[in-house]
Parts: sequence; C-alpha cells; structure tokens
Amino acid sequence: MNILSIENVTKTFGKGDDAVTALKDVSLQLEPGAFTAIQGPSGCGKTTLLLTAGGLLRPDSGTVMVLEQSLYALSIEQRAAYRAANIGFVFQQFHLIPYLTVLENVIAPLLKDNHKAGRIYAEEMLARFNLATHANKLPATLSTGERQRVALARAMVNKPKLLLADEPTGNLDSENADVVLTAMADFAAEGGAVLLVTHEAIAAERAKTTITMEKGVLK
Ligand SMILES: Nc1ncnc2c1ncn2[C@@H]1O[C@H](COP(=O)(O)OP(=O)(O)OP(=O)(O)O)[C@@H](O)[C@H]1O
Ligand SMILES: [Mg+2]
Repeated sequence: MNILSIENVTKTFGKGDDAVTALKDVSLQLEPGAFTAIQGPSGCGKTTLLLTAGGLLRPDSGTVMVLEQSLYALSIEQRAAYRAANIGFVFQQFHLIPYLTVLENVIAPLLKDNHKAGRIYAEEMLARFNLATHANKLPATLSTGERQRVALARAMVNKPKLLLADEPTGNLDSENADVVLTAMADFAAEGGAVLLVTHEAIAAERAKTTITMEKGVLK
C-alpha cells in the first residue's frame, strides 16, 4: 500500500494571460520507507505540490490519496481530522503560533487525550533537535534555524505516516541539518514516507530518491 499516491494532478493559478500552471499532470507514489527529495528552481511548483499532497490545496484535476483515502473526497472537517492523524507538514515559513511557547507549539497538534504521553514525547524531540533549553520560550526569541526545528518537531509529534517538509534545512548549520535529516531518515526507516523540497545538496544526498521539478513537471 502506498502512503502517498498522486495521480495526474494539475493546478493552475489565475486566469487568462496571467494564468500560471504550477502543476502539470503530476503523478508520484511514495511507499513506506520512502525518503524522496524534490529539487528545482524557484517558482517551479514545489510548494504547490506539497500543499496539494498535504490536503491544503485542492487541485483542479487528478487525485491525491494518503493511505488509500482520497483527500479531496473528504469534507473540510473530515480532511482536517485526517490530516491531523496522518500527515505532518513543515511549512517554508514555519507558521509557529507566536503566543505559545516552543513546547506548547509542538504539542498543539495533539488531541486532548494524548497530552500527557505527547508532552513527554515532545520534550524528547526538543532534546533531539537541540532545543531543550528553549522549551519555555516564545518563538520570536529563537533564531530562524531554531524555529525551523520547532516546526519539524511539531510536524512529527503526532507520529504521522506522511511527512511533508518545505526546505526543512534551509536555515540550518551543517550539524543541525544532519540532526534533522537523520530524524527524517529514521522516520522513513520506521515505515513512514518523507517528501521534502530542497535547494541544498546535503539534503538531496541524504534522500533515497531525488526528483527534479521544472515548470510544474516532475522529471
Ligand atoms: N496562491 C497563488 N496565487 C497565484 N499564483 C501562485 C500562488 N501560489 C503559487 N503561485 C505561482 O505558482 C508557481 C509555483 O509556485 P510555488 O510556490 O509552488 O513555487 P516553489 O517551487 O515552491 O518556489 P520557491 O523555491 O521559491 O519556494 C509560481 O509561479 C507562483 O507564482
Ligand atoms: Mg516554495
């Protein structure tokens, strides 16, 4: 069973002369254990592909299946619940909640009944990402690379099956990039699937599969 199956997905923004087709008939399958990197120039459609795969942007045509569930066949509420249970997302701009502490941000995706165990797991993850001393601080007081790692911890706290990450090492020094990439490799080795977007050779080298994207097309 595929964790992610994208079939013939097309997405166009705008109309007429201004129209930009960000995804052109894109198909992609990720099995358990997949660790796949997408590389390509700015504007080629990488973020659009991740948002579509993550249930956050409905394509104009084609299907997106996560664990054999068609995401866009679900209602908005059902899709939100399905995403919360199965998909972790690291946004290019992090989107941390500014008035919550680092630890509160990480445990925010957990359902209430998970909080005790989740909090312990979240603290373990913060330690793993060299953030233990930052747990009770607000995101605004952290460096960009630190906030990037908080965003990754939050994406992984629910133990999703699919992890989607937009430039997850873009702001990290090589030591912390290694920590993050190792965490992703372990996540894949445990039966998850990782799809990351990157401009960086170090991230692409650690991935098992690298795909080049050009003007909305996967090569
Ligand atoms: N909400 C939107 N409205 C209109 N056009 C959009 C929108 N989102 C993306 N686009 C356009 O779609 C194309 C693909 O954008 P996308 O953000 O997917 O690129 P990207 O590969 O992630 O680039 P980068 O490496 O700079 O992050 C671009 O031409 C962009 O201008
Ligand atoms: Mg992008």
